[in-house]
Amino acid sequence: MIPELNNPSVCMRDPQRVQDILMSMQKSGSNTLQVISDFDMTLTRFAYEGKRCPTCHNILDNSKLISNDCKEKLKELLNTYYPIEIDSSRSIEEKLPLMVEWWTKAHDLLVEQRIRKDLLATVVRESEARLREGFQLFFNHLHEHSIPLLIFSAGIGDILEEVIRQAGVFHSNVKVFSNYMDFDESGVLKAFKGELIHIYNKREGALLNTGHFQELRTRPNVLLLGDSLGDLTMADGVQDMENILKIGFLNDKVEERKQSYLDSYDIVLVKDETLEVPNAVLLYLT
Ligand code: TMP
Ligand code: MG
Repeated sequence: MIPELNNPSVCMRDPQRVQDILMSMQKSGSNTLQVISDFDMTLTRFAYEGKRCPTCHNILDNSKLISNDCKEKLKELLNTYYPIEIDSSRSIEEKLPLMVEWWTKAHDLLVEQRIRKDLLATVVRESEARLREGFQLFFNHLHEHSIPLLIFSAGIGDILEEVIRQAGVFHSNVKVFSNYMDFDESGVLKAFKGELIHIYNKREGALLNTGHFQELRTRPNVLLLGDSLGDLTMADGVQDMENILKIGFLNDKVEERKQSYLDSYDIVLVKDETLEVPNAVLLYLT
């Protein structure tokens, strides 16, 4: 049906179920489809030429806007909390307060740096941010078919918008839920706006945005893309859902985490740096 589902990176617990969902979604037509995607390490690459690629936070952390002293502290936080994020021996309940701690400490440090809004575009331009291969087809195809794309990110909204703007794919069908910076009158970062979105409270974030899902209630079929088990709740606000196909990128700690990814994502892409499979699914559905 979709030859790319035979790619070596593709793992499925139940290929028949995937086929049934795909056929049902295809029958309903592309005007019933909405796409919900995570950003960091889902739309962006995990690694390039053997080197890790930055998350939204890392783009700032590694930039000239941050003092060396602060860089050290942010790196310490990353070294402490990232291993917890991907630790398959701890439950989500156990990780949740620690993730809140990570985000809170990191945002407090960023606010201390008096970051200027007018420098963000340069910082992104000079960064090593990289969207996954095939991103043009992904974004442009959704736009051409007027399929809404929600990017739901625990990263930093201002940074991720700049990444997709500079890549030329911030089209009118794209909506972003994320952590946005709040600047004072002189354009200096003073806080983050609204409720914090971290890796394990996307469900709460979704439920705060019922208006968006209300507008999309004629689109009960969902394609969900994520790289963390926390991303599975991004569609919890969707109204009258009929079908959902979940594609998960398994980038790191593959052996330890594979079973839990297979149990919760319909299609698991193991160490796949491209959007080839999601694009093939989209072409089939549209
Ligand atoms: P996502 O929901 O768009 O994937 O964003 C969350 C990622 O951001 C998650 O993998 C952890 C990462 N992160 C950092 O790299 N540095 C930080 O300081 C924080 C708080 C999160
Ligand atoms: Mg992610």
